[in-house]
This record gives sequence, structure tokens and C-alpha cells, in this order.
Amino acid sequence: SRSHRIAVIPGDGIGTEVVPEGVRALRAAADAFGIGLDMVEYDFASAAYWQRHGTMLPEGWFDELKDYDALFLGAVGWPDVVPDHVSLWGSLLQFRRRFDQYANVRPVRLMPGVTSPLAGRGPGDIDFYVVRENTEGEYSSIGGRIFEGTERETVVQETVMTRTGVDRILRYAFELARGRERRKLTSATKSNGISQTMPYWDERVAAMAADHPDVAVDQYHIDILTAHFVLHPERFDVVVASNLFGDILSDLGPACAGTIGIAPSANINPERRYPSLFEPVHGSAPDIAGKGIANPVGQIWSASMMLDHLGEPEAAAAVLRAVEEVLAGDRAALTPDLGGSGTTASLGAAVAAAVKGAA
Ligand code: NAD
Ligand code: IPM
Ligand code: MN
Repeated sequence: SRSHRIAVIPGDGIGTEVVPEGVRALRAAADAFGIGLDMVEYDFASAAYWQRHGTMLPEGWFDELKDYDALFLGAVGWPDVVPDHVSLWGSLLQFRRRFDQYANVRPVRLMPGVTSPLAGRGPGDIDFYVVRENTEGEYSSIGGRIFEGTERETVVQETVMTRTGVDRILRYAFELARGRERRKLTSATKSNGISQTMPYWDERVAAMAADHPDVAVDQYHIDILTAHFVLHPERFDVVVASNLFGDILSDLGPACAGTIGIAPSANINPERRYPSLFEPVHGSAPDIAGKGIANPVGQIWSASMMLDHLGEPEAAAAVLRAVEEVLAGDRAALTPDLGGSGTTASLGAAVAAAVKGAA
């Protein structure tokens, strides 16, 4: 039978609570569809590892991980122990950059059974993708401080946009839009205030649009776009944005669709030269960590996206169907972010059981 090797990296906080539920759904899908999954768990990319070793990752991490078929990550960050920029630049952001996972694909969907905080919205009304540039842009290591400790103290951090980097994420987003019913692409920039990089992005959108006459294109400045996310979420189909703007939109979108606890993401290296990475959109949630009440659906939905990427579309669809079925079922069984009184484990177990039933 087919077999896939997966590195499992729980990370910090609720990452360690939701990853086992993602694994449980994966095992259920693997059993039901006759798929072999070889999952190897790693304790690095966590504050606990940092406390023991003084680094987030072992020296040989790149060679250790590069031959996996996929990486399955929980969340990284425990700011009481390691400053966030140190832990994230020492782990997740290295994975994205070194494995050239330049397309961060984040579906935003109002699911049956989930209530939107926006009035009058039901399932089907919100259904779009945020496609986020994931290797350059505002997340750059170019910059520094001068005149430290004086009144002239100055801090600079450059935004980097390369022709290759911008074109490849736009092409990915246009192709995604082309494959969807509405064939609509929205680009987010801020070309009135940011005078070099953002107009450049707009230029490349125009060039890419000329190559994709079948895709309807519009663009907004990021400020008003956030307002439209709240006021008119039904307008959007594929939203493409720079690294920072895509980060912001991919928390706002899921909040409009009920909870960030269910939002998944795929950090894709489309050329498949390196493993892609699958993780929920949310973080380690220190405020609820250790309580057993984190919503595991973002992790489980990410598992579905991973199965799809691994060439297992039936298993991927079964996991997503199971999620939909459980979300639409008894409200009390859901986690508190969805108004229920269930736990991470009880919700995860319900989804895994539904996966078995769906096969
Ligand atoms: P967060 O996403 O961890 O939490 C934001 C809020 O949403 C919190 O109130 C939290 O309780 C809630 N929440 C998040 N996930 C939930 C879930 N599955 N179920 C129920 N409620 C959920 O964002 P934050 O507080 O800004 O960040 C906390 C830490 O996580 C920081 O160290 C940050 O850098 C890190 N972080 C990591 C990732 C990642 O690894 N991909 C993503 C975002 C934040
Ligand atoms: C995300 C997170 C990360 C990001 C942080 C933790 C560096 O917010 O995956 O959305 O900004 O990309
Ligand atoms: Mn984010």
C-alpha cells in the first residue's frame, strides 16, 4: 500500500494538545483508506527544547527533515521563556524559508453549525482563500540598530520584494482562482503610503492579470480591505497578499467565520523540492494552555490539507467531511470557543470516529 513519512512537531502550549488529535484523525483516515503513515515525533521547536539546549533547533535539523514527505506542526511560542522573535525566527520561519514554502494557503469558510459574529451570515456565505506570500516581504532579516542607547537610536527593517518572489506567489494565487467557480482574485496592498514595494506588487498583479484573462481581478488598500472582510465577506474568492498583510487577513477572516480555532494552513513548496508544512493558523494560546479546551479542528483540518498534498484526496475529503459532520452536530460536544462544553480530546475523538464512519 501507499506510504508517507511525516515529521510531527507539536511545539508549545496548545500545540502539544491539538497535535495528538490531528494524529488521531490521520490514523483513522490511514486505517480506513489503507494508507501507510510513518510518523516520527520531534521535541525541538519548543521552549522546553530551548531551555535545555539554548537553541530552538538542533544543528542538523535541515538534513534531518528535508526528506520527509510532509511536516505536521502544532504551534511555536512561549514568550515567558523565549522572546517570540527569537523562538519563531529560530524555528517556524526557518522552516518556511529554508524549505522554500512560499505559498501559505489559508482557507476561510463559515462551516455548518458554526455561528459567525457577523449578522445574517450562514454556511456558504463565507468561502474564500487567503494566499499569503511566505518567504520574503515584511518578514526580512535585513535591518539593524544604530546609535544604540543615545537619543539618535534608530531602527530599520527593510521590506524585500523580488520579481521571482512576487511573481511566483501571484501565479499560485491566479492558478488557484482559475480552478474555482467564481474565478475571482483580490490583491491587498498599501500603495498610497508605501511607495516602492507596494506599487511594485500592483505592477506584477497587472502583468499576471494579462496572462490570466479568465480571472476577474480587483485590488484594495489593506485598510479598507479589512473593513470589507467584516462588511462584505461574500465578495471574496482568492485573496492574495504580502507576508504581513496575509498574516493579518488570515486571523481576521477566520474570526469573521466564527473562530480562529478551526482555521488551517498549508505552507507549500509547490515544486516539491522540499517538504511542505501543515499547521493551524492559531498559536500556542498560553491563556488556555493546559486546560484541555483548545479547539483541535484547525489542526485536524490541516491534516486534511496534508493528506490532499500527499496525493490522498479521498482520505482528505473524508477528514473534512468528518469535521463538518461533527461541527454541525450536537453543540454541547464542541469546545468553548464554539459555545460548547466539550474538550480537545472529546472533540478530537468525535471527529476520528466520524472519519471511520465516513470511509
Ligand atoms: P494565539 O493564536 O495563540 O491565541 C489568540 C487567542 O485565540 C487566545 O485567546 C487563544 O486562547 C485563542 N485561541 C487560539 N487558538 C485556539 C484554539 N485552537 N481553540 C480555542 N481558542 C484558541 O495568538 P497569540 O496569543 O498572539 O500568540 C501566542 C503565542 O503563539 C505567541 O508566542 C505567538 O508568537 C505564537 N504564535 C505561533 C503561531 C505558529 O506557531 N504558527 C501562530 C500564531 C502565534
Ligand atoms: C502565523 C503566525 C506566525 C507568522 C508567527 C508566529 C511568526 O502568526 O503563522 O500566522 O506571523 O507567520
Ligand atoms: Mn498569524
